Amino acid sequence: MKDFEELYALETECFGGSWTREMLLAELENPLTVLVCKRVDGIVAAFAFGRVAVDEAELFQIGTRPELRGRGIAKSLLERLHDKMRKKGAAVCFLEVRSRNAAAIALYEKSGYERISVRSGYYPDDDAVVMRKVL
Ligand SMILES: CC(C)(COP(=O)(O)OP(=O)(O)OC[C@H]1O[C@@H](n2cnc3c(N)ncnc32)[C@H](O)[C@@H]1OP(=O)(O)O)[C@@H](O)C(=O)NCCC(=O)NCCS
Repeated sequence: MKDFEELYALETECFGGSWTREMLLAELENPLTVLVCKRVDGIVAAFAFGRVAVDEAELFQIGTRPELRGRGIAKSLLERLHDKMRKKGAAVCFLEVRSRNAAAIALYEKSGYERISVRSGYYPDDDAVVMRKVL
């Protein structure tokens, strides 16, 4: 993949290396994976990816370069990702998010996701909120 190194560097900056290089590369090469990126001045400013399996999608990660946050980039990227998921046949998208990640939860609620459950102790240091959006 052409922009992989740039994308991996941004993933590491946003998520502190929660995915290894090999995991991310394998995910992006998976035919079920859907990826969208936004460039600003030629540099990867944000990315989002998930998977579509038959009629269900899952959002795995979305991240915006720290200095470019708060400009609506993630929200418009998510709309593009949802469009791609719909075109692949998905009718609904699920995600899990740390309960203390207020920025991400606000982004998802603004993008039409609703909370459906909480998985206590899902992360070593936090609970997961499970959210769903009808596409
Ligand atoms: C979450 C994240 C992707 C948001 O990116 P962004 O480009 O700054 O988001 P946007 O500017 O598109 O924000 C869209 C909406 O999300 C909400 N939001 C975004 N950042 C917020 C913050 N820090 N506090 C509260 N709400 C926030 C707001 O409702 C905002 O709409 P508004 O500006 O009209 O109020 C970004 O903070 C990030 O990369 N965080 C680290 C990675 C991460 O936690 N990803 C999510 C888990 S996979």
